[in-house]
Amino acid sequence: MYRTHTCGELRLQHKGQPVTLAGWVQRIRNLGGMTFIDLRDRYGITQLTVNDDSPSGVKETAAMLGREFVLQTTGTVLERSNKNPKITTGDIEIGVTGITVLNVANTPPFTIEDESDGGEELRARYRYLDLRRNPLQKAIHLRHRMAQEVRKYLDSQRFLEIETPFLIKSTPEGARDFVVPSRMNPGEFYALPQSPQTFKQLLMVAGYDRYFQIVRCFRDEDLRADRQPEFTQIDCEMAFVEREDILQTFEGLARHLFKSVLGIEWVADFPRISYADAMNNYGSDKPDIRFDMRINDLTDAVKGKNFILFDSAEYIGGICIKGCADYTRKQLDELTEWVKRPQIGAKGLVYIRWTADGIKSSIDKFYTTDELSVIAAKCRATQGDLILLLSGDKKKTLEMIGSLRIEMGNRLGLRPNNVYAPLWVYDFPLLEWDDETQRFYAMHHPFTSPKPEDLPKFYSANRHDITQVNANAYDFVLNGVEIGGGSIRIHDSGVQRRMFEVLGFSEEEANYKFGFIINAFRYGAPPHGGIAFGFDRWCALFGGQETIRDYIAFPKNNTGRDVMLDAPSKIDEEQMKELYLKSVKSEA
Ligand code: AMO
Repeated sequence: MYRTHTCGELRLQHKGQPVTLAGWVQRIRNLGGMTFIDLRDRYGITQLTVNDDSPSGVKETAAMLGREFVLQTTGTVLERSNKNPKITTGDIEIGVTGITVLNVANTPPFTIEDESDGGEELRARYRYLDLRRNPLQKAIHLRHRMAQEVRKYLDSQRFLEIETPFLIKSTPEGARDFVVPSRMNPGEFYALPQSPQTFKQLLMVAGYDRYFQIVRCFRDEDLRADRQPEFTQIDCEMAFVEREDILQTFEGLARHLFKSVLGIEWVADFPRISYADAMNNYGSDKPDIRFDMRINDLTDAVKGKNFILFDSAEYIGGICIKGCADYTRKQLDELTEWVKRPQIGAKGLVYIRWTADGIKSSIDKFYTTDELSVIAAKCRATQGDLILLLSGDKKKTLEMIGSLRIEMGNRLGLRPNNVYAPLWVYDFPLLEWDDETQRFYAMHHPFTSPKPEDLPKFYSANRHDITQVNANAYDFVLNGVEIGGGSIRIHDSGVQRRMFEVLGFSEEEANYKFGFIINAFRYGAPPHGGIAFGFDRWCALFGGQETIRDYIAFPKNNTGRDVMLDAPSKIDEEQMKELYLKSVKSEA
């Protein structure tokens, strides 16, 4: 037996017991005749003590140990004279009677501590060492807990866990596909699924009326803190349901996870907001409602005073920053530079400060104090507040104010990571027109149903009418992060045909790409709908982070590389030949 206990287990109640532990050397301290060794495993750290009274050989072995050596040690549990309240085993130590070195270790390239001295790149290259660190252990543990609780809840709701294939057909819509050449079918390719969307719908046709899967998805898209090229979804679908059934079922899942993973009992219904209200009030389709700071439409209030910037704008909006009227010129200039960054793209920032001396603004030349007071009232400002205004094209301006709102929320500490604000967003537009390619794209995916009341507009020949059609789609948002999205699907083959037509697919194209599902729908498709949650994102948020990388055991870096494996990499000529591939290096 390698061990009788783990390194996180022993307490004063074990005093006097002979034990055997195994683990890694975290730290060694030599204090004259005494040597203290911190032995670590994933359960904790236990202090081993070697002194002049230790049996022969023990002191010699202890003297040759290095960091991260793998040990087995026997000894007796002793009460510490110098207790360490910071660790759970801090009341005891092991009086060592024997040490076996199970393996030696090279000196690790960075310290295996909560705050490591290693940079990101170095730690990624030695991911297996990074994974020994406490914060990552905690993250991986949380992920495991989440997965178990997801299964527990969905199983209790009669969902069946069904796996779907990874080698599928390429039908890019949205992100790019990762493709896999087929040796047995020269010149042909599989694609890795961006999601199991079509399969889960086929499972509904097959009669498995509640499906789920914790499943890897692959998307060749630009990466960000909350995006990986391979990521995991909790993918779900239900038959014979309406939107309300789905929201209730998955609000139940969220409640279960809040309770079982975080110990938070959620009593109230989750708030709901339409896409249009989310955009108008928060400048985002995934608003962070942990703080208010709503956007106020000032278009009518500020136009017509000969201020050309506002007079020429389609929309002018403002947010009230409570208690910030004392912002200095320097701070306001810095904020102006912030909104002018290319990522935000504003031309400038107008401010109104309401101090004890009255209302002052950067547009005093154009507006009287009374007019500024009207604006302040519209923004629900009171003395002591700062109002920030942006103007321009409506949609873009709302999004810019939305970004500024989040930035101010961050600066003012209004987004604490231990406060949770779940939210459903519903009624997204069904389609988006793209000027460049002169065609419509599905906002969610081509199987999402239009709202029944919008069907006449959906069949209209007028492009504007079509842009007005809402989808029976919904997102689950937590703290300003889109955690999940889904919809009620089209189950009528006529509506589906119209969808492909609106998307500009010819009948042949639609049949080539989606023939299998169009066909299946001719054999009795039940009304159905579903949702998929970004599992990595949900884990990260419950862990108090917005970056998902630490919640994935072996993630890619921000250029999509696995620096530990050094992948992607070239394959040899023989392999290329077998796959009928030739590499043509881009000239650019
Ligand atoms: P959607 O594309 O909205 O919907 O994806 C669902 C959720 O998956 C997460 N997500 C990601 N997480 C990490 N890295 C990525 N690259 C990434 N892309 C998406 C997000 C998102 O909300 N089949 C539909 C769902 C349905 O209609 O049922 C789908 O995939 O949290």
